[in-house]
This record gives sequence, C-alpha cells and structure tokens, in this order.
Amino acid sequence: NQKIRIAIDGPAAAGKSTVAKIVAERLSYIYIDTGAMYRSLTLKALDNQISPNNESALADLLNVTMIELKPGIEGQLVYLDGVDVTKKIREASVTNNVSEVSKHRLVREEMVRRQQAFAKDGGVVMDGRDIGTHVIPNAELKIFLLASVEERALRRHTENLAKNYPSDLNQLQKEIELRDKLDSEREVSPLKKADDAIVIDTTSLTIQDVVNKIMNFANERI
Ligand code: C5P
Repeated sequence: NQKIRIAIDGPAAAGKSTVAKIVAERLSYIYIDTGAMYRSLTLKALDNQISPNNESALADLLNVTMIELKPGIEGQLVYLDGVDVTKKIREASVTNNVSEVSKHRLVREEMVRRQQAFAKDGGVVMDGRDIGTHVIPNAELKIFLLASVEERALRRHTENLAKNYPSDLNQLQKEIELRDKLDSEREVSPLKKADDAIVIDTTSLTIQDVVNKIMNFANERI
C-alpha cells in the first residue's frame, strides 16, 4: 500500500478541514491544517503589536515561533510556542488579519518549508490555499472544494451558533468574500485551482457525500 499525499484547497469555509480530518482518520494519515499555521502567526503578531503589513518583522517573528499540530479527541489541537491556541486562532481579530499576514513572500517561504517537511513521508492530508499548486505540487491526489458564498457563510454561521460563538450571517458573508478576494489576488501563491486538481462543488452535498467522493479517488491511487 502506497502512502499517498492528498492536497485539499479551496476558498474560505468551503468545508476543507471538516472533510480533510475525516479522510485522514479513515486512512490513518496525518492531517495538516495549514490555515491554522498562518492563523497562529497572526495571533502572535497581534499580541506583539507587529503590523500585518511588516513583512520583515513577521518573518523574524516566525523564525522564533513554534507551531505544533497535534491530534486531540475532538479534532486537531494547535499549539503556539507550547500554548494551546486552538480556540483563539478562530477569533474574528485573527480571521480578519490573517490574509494580510499570509500575503508576504518571506512568511510563505518559511511556512511552505515547514509544510513540506510534514508531507515528506507521505500519508498526509493537507488543506489550505496553495497546497496543490506550491506546497505539494506532485501530490497523488488534488482536490479543489467549492461552494457558493451564501452556503459557506450559512455553514460557518450554523457552526458558530452550535459552539455558542457570537455570529452575524451578513457580516460573515462579507468577511468570507473579502478574505477570498485577498487570497485570490495576492501576488505570492494565490488561491488557485491546480491544473490537475479535481473540482468538487459541495453546495448541495453532505459532508458524507464529499468524504465518499474523495475516498473513492484516494482508493484509486493507493
Ligand atoms: O483555512 P483557513 O480559513 O483557516 O485559513 C486562514 C487564512 O490563512 C486564509 O484566508 C489565507 O489567508 C491563509 N492561508 C494561506 N495559505 C494556506 C492556508 C491558509 O494563505 N495554505
């Protein structure tokens, strides 16, 4: 059995992490949430009053930053310099600054280095924006997940309410649209479907449907 690499990319709140986690579990692969890495750096920058526009300061900060992704009972846990920030990195302050932090070449180069080290032995499901195009361009399976922005905002809203987080549907939709715009229009490795990625529009699919589709493609390659 070959331990393949599965890259899952797509716009914000398209369900990437939800399905990636399940697929990784089914295959006993590791799951890497690259968005959590950019979010962790953003959190640390905000805490240290470093501007999301200051590329060299962010790169220096990243060089003294340890980001660990560990499996937990209820999904992946994220540790920033040894502290559990799993919840904190989902707060609006982080979400609304992360695209700014992520646009810088020096930040991305180091993040991609770390992500490639995670993926080097295979047996990995990695989600993000540039996994199929830059991080693992020779991944055995590349998936690009899509859903309408209305559906994505609604899913995130429902998720927030279930977790008792404050949530405003209209505002969520605006934030998602802005984040997609910034992520798609940046110069360095923008959000883009890899030429050889398989597109799955999840708008009218259940989580289970999407997982099954990806598992079928994966099994063809293992
Ligand atoms: O996946 P998630 O929504 O948590 O990602 C947060 C942000 O991190 C994205 O909006 C994007 O700006 C950045 N990101 C990125 N490249 C990745 C993963 C995330 O630029 N591979």
